[in-house]
Amino acid sequence: MIQVNPLSDTNFFAEVTGADLKRDDDEQFAAIKAAHLKHGVIVIRGQSMTPDDQIRFSRRFGPLAIHVLEDQLLEGHPEILLVSNKTEDGRYVGLPDAGRFWHTDQSYEEKPALGSLLFAIEVPADGSGDTWFCDMTSAYDALTDDMKTRLDGLRGKHIYNHSHENFSLNGEQQDRLPGYDHPLVRTHPETGRKALYLGGKLLKFIVGMDETESVMLLNDLYGHCQDDRFIYKHKWRQGDLVFWDNRCTMHYAQPYDDKRYTRHMHRTTVQGDRPA
Ligand code: SIN
Repeated sequence: MIQVNPLSDTNFFAEVTGADLKRDDDEQFAAIKAAHLKHGVIVIRGQSMTPDDQIRFSRRFGPLAIHVLEDQLLEGHPEILLVSNKTEDGRYVGLPDAGRFWHTDQSYEEKPALGSLLFAIEVPADGSGDTWFCDMTSAYDALTDDMKTRLDGLRGKHIYNHSHENFSLNGEQQDRLPGYDHPLVRTHPETGRKALYLGGKLLKFIVGMDETESVMLLNDLYGHCQDDRFIYKHKWRQGDLVFWDNRCTMHYAQPYDDKRYTRHMHRTTVQGDRPA
């Protein structure tokens, strides 16, 4: 039987046990969807899925996005982005340094990701390589009324143009991603709750604002989000499927000793709608 146990006092981030995602089951799906909306991020423990199982389960939440980095996708399963430091023939099979800063997935697209599902196939034996999550709904709620008024109507420009450890986007990939602006505060289309919507180093500036003022305001907001009460630090176990709601959270992958340990994960990404 499915059980959902919140792992923080604020209800942000919950653990789901008793699920078997190889089963295509309506009741199980409904319980997981409800937990995801209620808690923002869930970890579904003890899974042993094939890529097809993960794709089928993820598709229940909406169409899947194919990541622009086609060389880092699982062969034969382009819906799966490889987050991995494994190598084959001297080359990384996937992204060894995915998400090493606060961000929300695909914020640089017109319709950013609704949610991402990251399945841990191998995790570092010393317990490192955590992923940190930030509850952007609670962070918004805790702003002063003056700050909420100031943010009203402001938009941020998101562009994916940074370099990864082992490569940069090629010209054609960069052309496909001109960047988009989105509100700094968005209303969740399913829960109706407002959340801060920031993108770390992919959020370049606040549209129409003087550069110094834009940097200062964004720094204030990131500083506010760093408060412990908004952050949950997930320590991975092999077989965890973590499913985060990109519409109301940010996440940040922590470094680990990648010369000593393997961290190998499959990510599927559900396409969302235009933030409003
Ligand atoms: C990501 O940002 O998708 C990767 C997160 C992680 O590897 O922990």
